[in-house]
Amino acid sequence: MSKLHQLHLLQWFLLLSSAELFGLSRGDVGTAAQYSPPYLPTACYGNNVGKIPVDNYFASAGKGIWDNGASCGRQYRVRCLSALAKGTCTGTTIHLKIVDRSSTSVSHPSFDGTTMVLSESAFKAIANISAKEINIEYQQI
Ligand SMILES: *[C@@H]1O[C@H](CO)[C@@H](O)[C@H](O)[C@H]1NC(C)=O
Repeated sequence: MSKLHQLHLLQWFLLLSSAELFGLSRGDVGTAAQYSPPYLPTACYGNNVGKIPVDNYFASAGKGIWDNGASCGRQYRVRCLSALAKGTCTGTTIHLKIVDRSSTSVSHPSFDGTTMVLSESAFKAIANISAKEINIEYQQI
């Protein structure tokens, strides 16, 4: 291998490891709606409200991430990317837990067909609560 090739390999390696070190790896882009009480984690845990996180950062899973119920209990890092109205996103990143399935939740989503539907507490932390639907970046943790 030539010196030039070795240098290129080294640069490539440094680029990859620094991206990992500084957490630059990005999540997926999707959408989120919100839902209001009553919150029952029916599709995941029946009526066992003890499964709802005490910080109230939870969501129901949309079709794309429901995964036949395997998503129950999965945790995601979520932030708001954009919305119809300017200034909707707070810029905060939260961690939330999946506790239900949005298509069958007792309380209906503010918007149909989103990647996930956030509790009011979770939604309020990342966006203006007046928004019905927002674009999000999410990553399983
Ligand atoms: C949230 O959105 C509503 C409706 O667009 C707006 O009237 C209100 O000022 C916004 N609140 C904040 C804190 O930006």
